[in-house]
Amino acid sequence: MKESFKNYSMKTNGQTLLFADLEAPGTPTGQRAHLTFKANRSLGRHNWLRLTPAYSRHLVEQLVSSLGSPDRVLDPFCGTGTTALTCAEHGIRADTVDINPFLVWLANAKFAAYTPEELAEAKHFQSLLRLPADKNGFWHPPLADIEKWWTEDELVPLSALYNSVKEADLSEPARNLLFSAFCRVAIETASVSFGHQSMSFKPRNGDNGMVKTCAGEQVTGLFRRRLSEILEAAATELDGSLAKAHLGDSRNLHTILRAKYSRVITSPPYPNRMSYIRELRPYMYWLGYLRNGRQAGELDWQAIGGTWGCATSNLMRWQPSEEARVPFDGFDEMISGIRKRSEVLGRYVHKYFEDCVCHFRSLARVLREGATAHYIVGNSKFYDEMVHTEEIYAALMRDNGFENVRIENIRKRNSKKELFEFIVSGEFSP
Ligand SMILES: C[S@@+](CC[C@H](N)C(=O)[O-])C[C@H]1O[C@@H](n2cnc3c(N)ncnc32)[C@H](O)[C@@H]1O
Repeated sequence: MKESFKNYSMKTNGQTLLFADLEAPGTPTGQRAHLTFKANRSLGRHNWLRLTPAYSRHLVEQLVSSLGSPDRVLDPFCGTGTTALTCAEHGIRADTVDINPFLVWLANAKFAAYTPEELAEAKHFQSLLRLPADKNGFWHPPLADIEKWWTEDELVPLSALYNSVKEADLSEPARNLLFSAFCRVAIETASVSFGHQSMSFKPRNGDNGMVKTCAGEQVTGLFRRRLSEILEAAATELDGSLAKAHLGDSRNLHTILRAKYSRVITSPPYPNRMSYIRELRPYMYWLGYLRNGRQAGELDWQAIGGTWGCATSNLMRWQPSEEARVPFDGFDEMISGIRKRSEVLGRYVHKYFEDCVCHFRSLARVLREGATAHYIVGNSKFYDEMVHTEEIYAALMRDNGFENVRIENIRKRNSKKELFEFIVSGEFSP
């Protein structure tokens, strides 16, 4: 159901609140699934490959439309590309950056305009798809404990499918469509479930104690269905020149981007120890973006808020930098409070905000005067210490030339009563 923007905005004390929906004044902010990835489920390209960190197209549309159409939008933390895709769908140029090469690939596959010939090529592959009789000798990725993800009976058809997409004589756009469908099949056949923040393995046994598994024909049937959905989404009209995802580090935006931007709409990682690399491992190993655990840990260490693998031991060697001090009253006390309970978590939160300092400094170098920025962030709690991420972001914005900085509480994040999502907004006036 298409919802109207009007439902999410109202005026209080002369100020427009974008997401104060029509609940009675004073009602606690609800979980508002229409502002999360859940709302993208039936939305064509937005549903290409479902990943939980995504926010909803509604949220971006609201922000894009709230102050007149911006001519160039930047999302410095691309994820699945919701911001840039929404902008392109509205005829607005957008660039987006992510440190994860798999997400950059995925986003660019979603942003592309596909010719009828490319769509036909991918469809033709599907009609030729046959599983080979010989079950031996297929490559599968060096993912640790791969048997926890898929049984051997599932791995054989998955490997055959992967190898036939890889080796077929196809144009790059057609191959991207097929690999996207392959990713969906790989995750849907894996015995994992995705909870609010992290992935866990599902028990393998069915009611009768037998191991549940997907046979080869089920895997190919699922592939045909997912490919049809992706082809349908890919056939929707889109100007493929409007959105572009760039591989890079948002602490160095000025070295990656040449344009200047009039609007920023983004959702950076939250300080909540969620590792995007951990969650995305299956896709990244299959598609060759990861070859071993060391690489995975190193990439997580490069990411803001990464704590997985070697990132944890690196944190214990990490030293704060005087040049990247966090300009927020009470910051040092908050970090000391967390460090008293856990040295590694104290360092984790400290480094997270130092990285944000570097990000905002670099951001200021790629903005036009008068640009507006909107950061969707969540607060966190470590032991008894509340980490008021939204207030620290507001301080970082002020410190980097933003005026009229304001915080709006948009939704409750989960069952914990004190965890919320906020939009921190401001106007760049250096
Ligand atoms: C909350 S997700 C963004 C989700 C996105 N709004 C969407 O709808 O899919 C944050 C993203 O920041 C990326 N990231 C983390 N550190 C980064 C860095 N230093 N530079 C660029 N991207 C980074 C992560 O890989 C992740 O994709």
